[in-house]
Amino acid sequence: MKRVAILISGSGSNMVRLVEEMQDGRIDGRPVLVLSNVEGAPGLRKAEARGVPTATVPHADYPDRAGFEGAIQTVLERAEVDLICLAGFMRILSPEFVAKWEGRLLNIHPSLLPLFKGLHTHRQALEAGVAVHGCTVHGVTAALDDGPILGQAVVPVKPEDTEADLAARVLKQEHKLYPAVLAALCRGDMPKVALLT
Ligand code: GAR
Repeated sequence: MKRVAILISGSGSNMVRLVEEMQDGRIDGRPVLVLSNVEGAPGLRKAEARGVPTATVPHADYPDRAGFEGAIQTVLERAEVDLICLAGFMRILSPEFVAKWEGRLLNIHPSLLPLFKGLHTHRQALEAGVAVHGCTVHGVTAALDDGPILGQAVVPVKPEDTEADLAARVLKQEHKLYPAVLAALCRGDMPKVALLT
């Protein structure tokens, strides 16, 4: 059974979905660590409530990225982690850190990559005038919001949508997509999950 760490910075709703599916036996993995770079991130309490060990490594406590990532690496090694899921983890990881974990490091991004990398993806989608939008789970490589696509979920964009409407519609699909991709990986498959709504 894969030992899974989930890295968060905020509310942790994707993390909760991954933990629930593992704890209910629908994913052949065990949530062994939820780590946040933000002290008091609401997701930490949700992980604790589900009995998952948590750790906080505040990036501001370290003089540079190498020091911060060294501290994360120590916590991950102590928890004997096999696989890392980034779930709303809002720090860019260095090529050196990514190289250590490549093939065992996933991310969820709120757009249909390669469209709309970076921040404010729902605003980018509205400004581009696209008719569909969505989210992507991908393997992490040194390039930002790049790497092999393991699954995507599509939602419609409605003419009256605000950024918040679109974010909520996409997040609902994120909660289905991430567990589906992680389940396949833990079965030993190299997934290409497509969720079309
Ligand atoms: C999610 O929408 C996730 O896709 C996004 O942050 C949100 C976290 O929500 N991630 C990124 O933008 C990464 N670049 P959550 O904390 O409730 O899971």
